[in-house]
Amino acid sequence: LDKVRLRANFQIQVLSSLFFRNKGAYVVGKIINGFNEVPFALPILHDDDGRLFIDAALFGEDDLQMLFSFARAYFMVDMEVPSAYVQFLRSLMPRKPRAEIYNALGLAKQGKTLFYRDFLYHLKHSTDKFRIAPGIKGMVMLVFDLPSFPFVFKLIKDYFPPPKETTREQIKGKYLLVKQHDRVGRMADTLEYSEVAFPRERFDDALITEIEKFAPSQLEISDRDGDGHQEVIIKHLYIERRMIPLNIYLQEAFDTGLSDPRAHQQMERSVIEYGNAIKDLVAANIFPGDMLWKNFGITRNGKVVFYDYDEIEYLTDCNFRRVPTPRNEEEEMSGEVWYTVGPHDVFPETFGPFLLGNDAVRAVFMQHHGDLLDVAFWQQHKERIQAGHVYDVFPYDPERRFHHAAH
Ligand SMILES: Nc1ncnc2c1ncn2[C@@H]1O[C@H](COP(=O)(O)OP(=O)(O)OP(=O)(O)O)[C@@H](O)[C@H]1O
Ligand SMILES: [Mg+2]
Repeated sequence: LDKVRLRANFQIQVLSSLFFRNKGAYVVGKIINGFNEVPFALPILHDDDGRLFIDAALFGEDDLQMLFSFARAYFMVDMEVPSAYVQFLRSLMPRKPRAEIYNALGLAKQGKTLFYRDFLYHLKHSTDKFRIAPGIKGMVMLVFDLPSFPFVFKLIKDYFPPPKETTREQIKGKYLLVKQHDRVGRMADTLEYSEVAFPRERFDDALITEIEKFAPSQLEISDRDGDGHQEVIIKHLYIERRMIPLNIYLQEAFDTGLSDPRAHQQMERSVIEYGNAIKDLVAANIFPGDMLWKNFGITRNGKVVFYDYDEIEYLTDCNFRRVPTPRNEEEEMSGEVWYTVGPHDVFPETFGPFLLGNDAVRAVFMQHHGDLLDVAFWQQHKERIQAGHVYDVFPYDPERRFHHAAH
């Protein structure tokens, strides 16, 4: 600060209510110095003796965006006039739509309303068509997007091929679990809508065919208001931030060739981040279920976030097992799974063949996250959570913590 010249108009403004989330509370405000404004947030924690301390100082738009990310749990804030809070927060993060700020404050109804309004505005000022989302199609979800709009639309299919054994109600339950759980920066928030109308002429025919085939119960096409324009009405829908599916992102690096240093770095970073994402989920008692690359996406900030929730379980409900030793030659030679597998059984040793077909990916993964293939890793975390130890996942780099070394 000593290098900064203080102007005549020097102020520090803070919102009078604290922002609560998990075990922390945040003071949120901005420093005004002449024409310069710097947003800041101060996380307050308490130590084992109940004493309060400021854990870090977060400055600037990027730090705040991270704190208010769609992949984090909502804040609890006592606000007399929420719109005034939103207006102030918007001055700290001008690029964040108001809808997202309402959502981050737990005011989902207003968030949804504003989101839909923004969406209609976007439709009015664009001409492209909804299409089946790029990537590997889901077995339980039918996903579509509009190229010019950074979100995806997900509907639950009417039936699911084996080995999926689930129901519409169960899937809704999993999405709700994610909505109410700490998303630790690693699970995308979803907005849930029913009876959503879109203009028919903006839909690709292939997409209509796809919905007719896989989710006919969810589709109605009609001219409700009788103005000669047909509408596509989707009964139930989740909307979520679009990311680049990790399988596509990795494929890009492979296509360039890993001998290219930048492609190699792209691969390396995403593999490391992928493992970090799983470990953050583990810290929050979430077992993602289906850990294939296609079920994770990479955000604009290069963070890896999970988005496929239908097989999510609490870690503490899973039964982590070692693959049993074969008792005879027949079992040993069997290409099939010869041992009995319960519904909550998980065999971490068997993740490798699905994930690590590429040698370069395998090398990076084993160097940084080999422990994820070890049953002991999962078992220890399960026991730790059962014993009541909940790890902290900070919405800022742990290096930023004032007493980092001491903790
Ligand atoms: N937020 C997102 N951003 C970008 N693409 C997405 C997003 N969510 C889903 N997709 C795309 O849609 C596909 C299917 O989505 P999702 O994995 O949620 O469905 P699913 O039916 O649960 O999949 P699975 O068959 O793996 O269980 C993904 O593989 C991905 O290509
Ligand atoms: Mg999937």
